[in-house]
Amino acid sequence: MIGTGYVGLVSGVCFADLGNDVICIDRDQKKVDDLKKGIIPIYEPGLDELVLKNYKNNRLKFSTNLKDSISKSDIIFICVGTPSKKNGNDADLSQIFNVAKEIRTSISKFKIIITKSTVPVTTGDNIEKIILEKVSKKLFSVVSNPEFLREGEAIRDFTYPDRVVIGTKDKRSNKILKNLYSPLISKGAKYVNTSRRAAELIKYASNAFLATKITFINELANLCEKIDVNIEDISIGMGLDKRIGSRFLRAGPAYGGSCFPKDTKAIIHTSDKFNTNLSVIKSVIKSNENRSSLLLKRVFDILKGKIKNKKICFLGVTFKANTDDMRDSSSLSMIPSLIKKGATVNYFDPTGEKDEFKRTKNVVFSVNINSAIKDSDLIIIHTEWNDFKSINFKKIVKNKNFRIFDMRNIYSSIKMKEQKIKYFAIGR
Ligand SMILES: NC(=O)c1ccc[n+]([C@@H]2O[C@H](COP(=O)([O-])OP(=O)(O)OC[C@H]3O[C@@H](n4cnc5c(N)ncnc54)[C@H](O)[C@@H]3O)[C@@H](O)[C@H]2O)c1
Repeated sequence: MIGTGYVGLVSGVCFADLGNDVICIDRDQKKVDDLKKGIIPIYEPGLDELVLKNYKNNRLKFSTNLKDSISKSDIIFICVGTPSKKNGNDADLSQIFNVAKEIRTSISKFKIIITKSTVPVTTGDNIEKIILEKVSKKLFSVVSNPEFLREGEAIRDFTYPDRVVIGTKDKRSNKILKNLYSPLISKGAKYVNTSRRAAELIKYASNAFLATKITFINELANLCEKIDVNIEDISIGMGLDKRIGSRFLRAGPAYGGSCFPKDTKAIIHTSDKFNTNLSVIKSVIKSNENRSSLLLKRVFDILKGKIKNKKICFLGVTFKANTDDMRDSSSLSMIPSLIKKGATVNYFDPTGEKDEFKRTKNVVFSVNINSAIKDSDLIIIHTEWNDFKSINFKKIVKNKNFRIFDMRNIYSSIKMKEQKIKYFAIGR
């Protein structure tokens, strides 16, 4: 596994747990040293025990030595980052191509080289070209095998995937990979063998569709707020239709994280490149970009326009629960905007203090829920951690006039009303 991040580490340890010998490689020496000491660089439920177990039984190794690890491996998964380019929508593929250039110097027997990273259509063709410059065609095959795991549920998602997508027309590689994944297929995962380009596009199309579902329900929530309808009734009523499905139909803040924002932009870049117009996805991106300003306007209304000197508490700052990933979280734009308007913000996140806010003036990390909320004028429930689901606000918050803005609809509006708490939710 080249790249020991959220995808490489989880996939690597899960493959090891299925009985394979796995080397997880990273260029980050500290990450590799820590992993060897049992220190896990990310928050992912269940990951530490699984790493420890497979490291101890010697099926899982960690290394910074790419060349040596490549020559020892039959199957090579590229799991490095593919962020958006700094000035544009397209994916920055420099990490991918750097790896391809390194791999080609260590191939002396047949290897399957797989992109597990999310890469735009034709990236596999380009990786193949790079390797072909130095290596005979007979000695390698480039395959696309996109990963669909979700942070926070990554081990379960990897172990019980809905489908395994393998993009290759090479029969030998397909046979080897079907065998590698056979323990998951026997548990019910569908095995989809398709062209490399189709596999690359399946990943972007899936993420863009899920982002569309979230954005769709978020926009409907705006309507519900105006017409005294509860968005959750709409989600239930729609979701029971099997053609629609209930997942990803929960209204909340703008979608964020390490995938949806960059992948929706990258697929637009691809469609522009090939002179087509994915207008639905374009409006999803726009709507999502507007979502944080819209929710900030609601904060403004909840505080009756008086934000200056108000003490605002964020419960959770990551883009979703059960992860420490801050990439493209909506808190990254909302908190600085509130500070700019004169508020002070303190926050609690179960995964600890965030580097992103360490240098932001008037933003303070609290070590637990009680100290985070006790002096607040407004409590914003930003992330749906279980830790936030049964807080006795009345008992803890000293300010009698405090308000709650529950961006995840965790609490019941009726129960809050009974307790005479000024409570605001999404789409209710
Ligand atoms: N995070 C997710 O939930 C998720 C889910 C599905 C797919 N993906 C895709 O998987 C890919 C990886 O995502 P991630 O979140 O795991 O990224 P990440 O940033 O957590 O990890 C990438 C790792 O690659 C390492 N790396 C970069 N260049 C290297 C090199 N030359 N040699 C060795 N190591 C190198 C980095 O040091 C880093 O540790 C992306 O394309 C992403 O879109 C991510």
